[in-house]
This record gives sequence, structure tokens and C-alpha cells, in this order.
Amino acid sequence: MSSHSILPGATIGILGGGQLGRMTAMAARTLGYDVHVLDPDPDCAARGVVDRVVTARFDDADAAADLARNCAVVTLEIEQIATASLDAAARHAPVRPSSRLLGIIQDRARQKRWLKDNGFPLGPYEDVTNVDSLAGAASRLGDLVVKATRGGYDGRSQVRLSVGADAGAAWASLTGDCAAVRPAVAEQALELESELSVMIARAPNGATAIYPPALNFHERQVLAWSVMPAPLPPQLVRRATDLARGIADAIALEGLLAVEMFLTTSGELLVNELAPRPHNSFHETELACPTSQFEQLVRAVCDLPLGETAIVRPAAIVNLFGDLWTNGSAPRFDAALAEPWTRLHLYGKRVARPGRKMGHISAYGDSADEALARARAAASRLTDVAS
Ligand SMILES: Nc1ncnc2c1ncn2[C@@H]1O[C@H](COP(=O)(O)OP(=O)(O)OP(=O)(O)O)[C@@H](O)[C@H]1O
Ligand SMILES: [Mg+2]
Repeated sequence: MSSHSILPGATIGILGGGQLGRMTAMAARTLGYDVHVLDPDPDCAARGVVDRVVTARFDDADAAADLARNCAVVTLEIEQIATASLDAAARHAPVRPSSRLLGIIQDRARQKRWLKDNGFPLGPYEDVTNVDSLAGAASRLGDLVVKATRGGYDGRSQVRLSVGADAGAAWASLTGDCAAVRPAVAEQALELESELSVMIARAPNGATAIYPPALNFHERQVLAWSVMPAPLPPQLVRRATDLARGIADAIALEGLLAVEMFLTTSGELLVNELAPRPHNSFHETELACPTSQFEQLVRAVCDLPLGETAIVRPAAIVNLFGDLWTNGSAPRFDAALAEPWTRLHLYGKRVARPGRKMGHISAYGDSADEALARARAAASRLTDVAS
């Protein structure tokens, strides 16, 4: 513990009160901290588990300052916080991760340029701004995944463009207008062997703790399930963790950083994107590891010793989307909970919408395969017909 540690009993501020803020708040409370959050939605997922909700937009710098004034440290659970809000908060309390780091990461084009300039491996891509530059990128790179530089998550603000397809239609579906001028990145659509992520925590004093990679499976650009340990050869685990450590050091991380990676069918390990916060693919750390990612974030931003990240027992998660609620009868939580070695996590969201993350099911196993099979079996029971 350093003399700068922020000890239990203090108040932690979180910018963002979604499920990641909620689960971070629960871990902070277990450690004896008070928690304040800022979120535009007074009914946000964290509302029931925190001491105070400041209802304000993420670009409301005065509100961010108000939050920070009552907190010993401020962190965040979403990257789309205006850097002016982070700067305003930083005048009252340390903000971890920093506004400088967020400025690099929250803009996809800037993030990619930073990764490239610092020598980290990326797939081929081009910056585009209009339909002509998009068509040019398609002619050079082939099939594309086109992503708006700001505001995308869960595959939103993205469109695929196949060779020979209409670039104008793709651009219009991304921007709403074929003639729009708007920054985006056009990535080559890669042939993926698998997707993995690595989570690293870094304290203000430079100490790091890194979780073994998780293996992730996406459906329609959104994470469907994740399992750890990822069944990968040791030298690939080494490459992945070295990559994450290199990025965390180069970007002077304070807090958590998830590095989403692609393993291509030709064996290349590439960075997809960075997330400077807890990550959906590490929810299973609550079961698999002595220290969950949420507790680790609290330890890191409070400058406490970082916790153990080894896998004690394989674990998996399956996401639960709003479709489960909107597609007919209420989910059969009773049936799902009958599946042994599983846990149910619901985020307290009052409104279910198709594609909205409402919760997840986690499960233990003697192997990664067993953990995943249990989590999936429990999730499939949610749609059992009531007897
Ligand atoms: N260049 C690419 N080639 C192949 N697949 C891709 C590519 N880019 C994205 N994908 C697929 O789409 C998913 C979502 O992409 P990305 O991570 O960039 O978006 P996101 O909206 O930030 O998603 P999330 O919030 O779930 O992380 C990836 O995990 C991958 O499955
Ligand atoms: Mg992603």
C-alpha cells in the first residue's frame, strides 16, 4: 500500500451508471467504500446500489465537477465521456483513467493511429470521410467493416461492405445520408480463427496485474458468450499478455484496460480495440479468479495492492438480451436456476429492448468446455415452456 492509497470509507465516483458501473459499485461497497455515479438516466442500472446518482449528460462538465467534489477518486465505466467533463472532475479529485487516455481511446481513428504509431499490430484499414474515400478503401482492401469513429458499441454504428456491393448504400446506412461527410474507419474484413481479450490493471505507481485471456464468441457483432481460460497454446497466451502489457505501459494506464484481439486464420494476433474499463468478456472473473475485474478496478484506482488474477476454476458467461423479454413470455429464471453450478446476474434495467444487455448467466466447470456448456444450458432454459 502506498501513502497515496484511498482507503475504505472514502467515496468513489463513477462516470456512467450502466451495468459495469453497477457491478463496480457492488465490489466497491463490499470493500467498504461509498459510491456516487453520474448518468443521464435517473433510472440507470446502478441506481439501487449507490449512495448518490447525479443525473446529467456525459458532456455536462459542471455536473462532473460536482460529482468529483464529493469523491476521493473518479473512474468511469463508459468511454464516451466528454474530455472536458473529465478535466473538470480532475480539478477536484484524481480521474483514473485520465482524460488524455480517454481522448486517445474514445475516437476509433485516433486510437488506431496511436496503436500503429506505437508499433502495435492492427489489421489493414483506412480512414474515410465520404462515399468516395469508402469506395477507394474497398478497391484497395476488399471486403470491409466500416465503423463510425465515435459512439459505437455492441456493433452499433458499423456496417459491412462486400466487394462489388453499393458503397453509397453502405455509407447511407452508417451515416443516414449518402452525401454525408463524417469520419469513419474502413477495416479490412478479416477471416477470424477466434476472438480473445486480455484484461490488465495498472495502479498509479505502475504495478500491473493481468488476467489470462478470455475466449469470446460474437453473434451479429455482439458478444454472445465468453469463457476463461481461453483454450490457446501457451506461446499465444504469452503473446497476447505481452501485447496488453505493452499497451498499458505505453498509454500510462491507471485503472483497467481490456484489449480485444483477433486471431486470424493465418495465425496473426491483432488488436481490435481497447476499452479502458471493466469489460463484458471478464464478467466471469467473478467466479474464475480470486479478484473480480470490478474489485480490481477499485483496487487500481484507489492505489491499493492489486489482487490475484490466476484462474482458480474455469468459468463462462452467456449474455442475456432484451429479446428474451420482448419475444413472448417472461424468461424462466426458475428453470435456469435449476441448472447446477450457475449464477444469474440481472442488471436491474426497467426497459427491455431487442439487443439490449439485460444480464448474464455465469457458470463454473472443471474445464472451460464444461463451464460454457452449463452456462449455455441454463440460458437455454430461460425459454422453456412453463409446465
Ligand atoms: N475488421 C473486422 N473483421 C472481422 N470481424 C470484425 C471486424 N471488426 C469487427 N468485427 C466483428 O464485430 C465485432 C464488434 O466489433 P467492434 O469490437 O469493433 O465493435 P463494438 O461496437 O465496439 O463492439 P463491442 O462494444 O461489442 O466491443 C468484433 O468483435 C468482431 O466479431
Ligand atoms: Mg468490441
